[in-house]
Formats: sequence, structure tokens, C-alpha cells
Amino acid sequence: MAINIALQGLTKSYLGMLPVLDDVSFNIDEGEFYYLTGVSGAGKTTVFRLLMLMERPDRGTILFGGEDVTRLSPADQALHRRRIGMVFQDYRLLADESIEENVALPLRVAGYRAGKLRGKIEERLEQVGLADRRKDRVMGLSGGEKQLVSIARALAFDPKVFFADEPTGNLDQSMAIRVMELILALHRGGCTVIVATHDLNLIRAFWARTLLIKDRRVHEVRLTEHRSSA
Ligand SMILES: Nc1ncnc2c1ncn2[C@@H]1O[C@H](COP(=O)(O)OP(=O)(O)O)[C@@H](O)[C@H]1O
Ligand SMILES: [Mg+2]
Repeated sequence: MAINIALQGLTKSYLGMLPVLDDVSFNIDEGEFYYLTGVSGAGKTTVFRLLMLMERPDRGTILFGGEDVTRLSPADQALHRRRIGMVFQDYRLLADESIEENVALPLRVAGYRAGKLRGKIEERLEQVGLADRRKDRVMGLSGGEKQLVSIARALAFDPKVFFADEPTGNLDQSMAIRVMELILALHRGGCTVIVATHDLNLIRAFWARTLLIKDRRVHEVRLTEHRSSA
């Protein structure tokens, strides 16, 4: 089943505040790559939290493959989250644990056991280029390496949908390029991808369609591609 993502008439406010998003609608077809941009505080992370069912909208619907996911039972909400790979702005890794333990965690929670678990972890660590670092503790890693671990963990269930919240925000240029190449490879593999960023240079360097959050609304905007290296 094609999973296109649609927000319809979505309004979201946090307790006692003006809405962050007001009557927002957009549609992302399966296999598309979109940026979600807007100034800090515009609501980018809020959009991801809504799509992940970590927040409830005040009004409106969130459709995945035509199904209103805001109405799912708690058990189905968990399954919904499992089909999305999400990389959080602050990594959310277990600092005291090894790289491989961090990648294993969602699989363990889902009931994977030894043999199958090992194969999955191997595959993911190879994918992000950290296979020979598997035993290293997360605590000692650079920001970029932590980002790679969190991407590997996000890919645990072979998601068809991948969200990354400011994935290059704290990285130096060469690591930012490595992370973006990885995300672009997921997209080429058929994943629907949304990358939140406030960095217009990133968008120009790795051009893709762009949704802008401005004045509580979301619009598609056209930014010009530039081919000179940044
Ligand atoms: N849990 C929360 N409670 C209250 N206000 C929040 C909460 N999360 C975000 N906000 C506010 O909502 C607005 C949008 O935040 P956010 O979605 O994090 O924006 P962005 O990711 O674009 O920087 C900001 O004004 C922020 O302060
Ligand atoms: Mg944010």
C-alpha cells in the first residue's frame, strides 16, 4: 500500500498559547523528499511530533495512506511509529551504552532475539559505516558519529518513511555531507523523507522540494538550486 502523508486542516496549540499551526494542509506523496523549513520556533519539530503521534492536534486529520492515524488505538499507534524512522534533534541515545546496544534497543523492545537481532544490527551499522566501532560507548563519540548512530537506530524496522529533525545542525561540513548522502540514499531506495532544517544553504546544496512554515501556515516554496560548492 502506498503511504502518502497528508495533513488536513490541522491546528495545534500548546496549552494556553496561540496556535503554532493554524489550519495547515499539505500532501506528500510516497517516495518524495521534502524539506520542512522555517525560523527557529516556527513549528518544524511540532509537525514531526504530530506525525509521530507524540502530540495531538486540536483540530484536523493526519492521514497515512488515507488512514486517519489520530484515531488509532494505542497498540496501532505503536505500529504506526514503527513504520517511521525518526532522527531527533537531540539524538536521544543512551550515553552509557555501546553503539550496537543503542541500535539494538528498539529491536529488543519489539521482541527480536539473538540471531535475528545480530543480523539486523550488522546490516544497520554497515549502512552508516560504524560496523567496526560497534563496541564503542556513545559517550565518547563526536556529534556526527552520534548522528550516525541515531540514523542506524531509526532504520531498525526498515521504515518506508524517514524523518530527520535538523540532522546537520551541529555537524561540521564533511559530516553534514556524509549524513545528507546517507539520507539521500534512503530516498533513492524508495523512502519518503522529510528533513527539517532552518539552513537554506543546506537546501541549496542538496536541493529538494521545500515546505515553509510561516505565520502558522505551511506553503510549498521554490528556492533556487545552486551548484557551486558551499
Ligand atoms: N511542549 C511545548 N509546550 C509549550 N510550547 C511549546 C512546546 N513545544 C514547542 N513549543 C513552542 O511551539 C513553538 C514551535 O516550536 P517547535 O515546533 O519546536 O519549532 P521549531 O522546531 O521550528 O524550532 C515555539 O514557540 C515553541 O516555544
Ligand atoms: Mg525544532
